[in-house]
Amino acid sequence: MRGEVTSRPSRFILVIFTAITFLSYGGRVYGGITSTFIRSEWPSVDIPFDNEAFAVPKGHNAPQQVHITQGDYDGKAVIVSWVTSDAPGLSIVNFGTSLGRYTLSAEGTMTNYTFHDYKSGYIHHCLLEGLKYDTKYYYKIGEGESSREFSFQTPPKIGPDAPYKFGIIGDLGQTYNSLSTLEHYMHSGAQAVLFVGDLSYADRYQYNDVGLRWDTWGRFIEKIAAHQPWLWSAGNHEIEYMPYMGEVIPFKSYLHRYATPYLASKSSSPLWYAVRRASAHIIVLSSYSPFVKYTPQWMWLREEFKRVDREKTPWLIVLMHAPIYNSNNAHFMEGESMRSVFESWFVRNKVDVVFAGHVHAYERSYRISNIHYDVSTGDHYPVRDESAPVYITVGDGGNQEGLAGRFRDPQPDYSAFREASYGHSTLEIKNRTHALYHWNRNDDGKKVATDSFVLHNQYWATNGRRRKLKKHYLTSLAGQIATY
Ligand SMILES: [Fe+2]
Repeated sequence: MRGEVTSRPSRFILVIFTAITFLSYGGRVYGGITSTFIRSEWPSVDIPFDNEAFAVPKGHNAPQQVHITQGDYDGKAVIVSWVTSDAPGLSIVNFGTSLGRYTLSAEGTMTNYTFHDYKSGYIHHCLLEGLKYDTKYYYKIGEGESSREFSFQTPPKIGPDAPYKFGIIGDLGQTYNSLSTLEHYMHSGAQAVLFVGDLSYADRYQYNDVGLRWDTWGRFIEKIAAHQPWLWSAGNHEIEYMPYMGEVIPFKSYLHRYATPYLASKSSSPLWYAVRRASAHIIVLSSYSPFVKYTPQWMWLREEFKRVDREKTPWLIVLMHAPIYNSNNAHFMEGESMRSVFESWFVRNKVDVVFAGHVHAYERSYRISNIHYDVSTGDHYPVRDESAPVYITVGDGGNQEGLAGRFRDPQPDYSAFREASYGHSTLEIKNRTHALYHWNRNDDGKKVATDSFVLHNQYWATNGRRRKLKKHYLTSLAGQIATY
């Protein structure tokens, strides 16, 4: 009797479970999580000009706004950039592997620009080449008592199992929320920043304040950016098309101030390029430059995909500003034009992950694609596709425009997790097959994993590659046994 009573609900539950499972995998019902977390938000206002976060370094003509980025294709060069405000000064970096002993030096270039009545300081870019991998370098810029010293660590040699931890930050701005993002990032242990566009939000200002807010932002990020490379991609706030001020040259401030190693990847523009770092091949695209068929960006990307060697750099990462998959009301469908041009390439080339910004919230997709759509079949819905990348929007750095709090309802099937909070992400590559991904909400302590998962490599995770990997390890193990 007792058995009968318990068995009926069990059967009922089994039927329900089976139905849910069927719907989940047979149909398209596999929507993700919309976080109900509501953060107590600091006002989205920029930190005042005279705040300590923007302090000008002491000394006549002292270098300020110091930042570095990768300077070549493979991570053996660094571009050091800084601004001097009183006089041009020297465009020289003295450097070496011990503090205070600068046995090497490199000479760079100096540039400046005007923006309406604003005159920029003297902007220096200096390439340090021929560095050793996995080595700490110290460097000194400026003259006499105004000189300043910093250090950076070069990445490990390019290799399939080289571990590396990237941070991902987007849409940062210069508010108290931005400051919180930077402080959280500093405790993340990440070694380089993949920046997904919209840097200073200086274009929210007018006349001289535009240039001045680029200067404050440069000083704002220096505590991190002088010590580890930020790999830049441009957002819409870098365009600065402001005809009422007579400023119509797109990306003028950004291109003068933030260098990229575009020539090393045979690109014709600093706005799109690629680098290899440790075990990752990183492709940077420009959402606001022509990308349709036959344009320079399209032709460059077609060639760059051919240069990707997953045997050397298993991880293929793409950065852009406007997300291809976004279910927030803000900027909905703005990435559709780039999706229609590049998505099939992302799938064919087994891109692991695409990071974007632009939407001031966090969202992660499942592995999905919509590459079968054409204007005649009407087949036009994203479907699960294990060859497709994961799409992650990290436009939640904390700028003055505030959060994008309204997601589309219901949550689309392609969306795995979404939350309207500030934060940053990290991608910790462990080896050629696995990486740990983590999104950190600003309100949390650094160890709280608000959204995290293990990212399996798209190239090495397939069965054939696994067999090859197993064989590789067995051969190397046999070699070790033979040695001992
Ligand atoms: Fe944006």
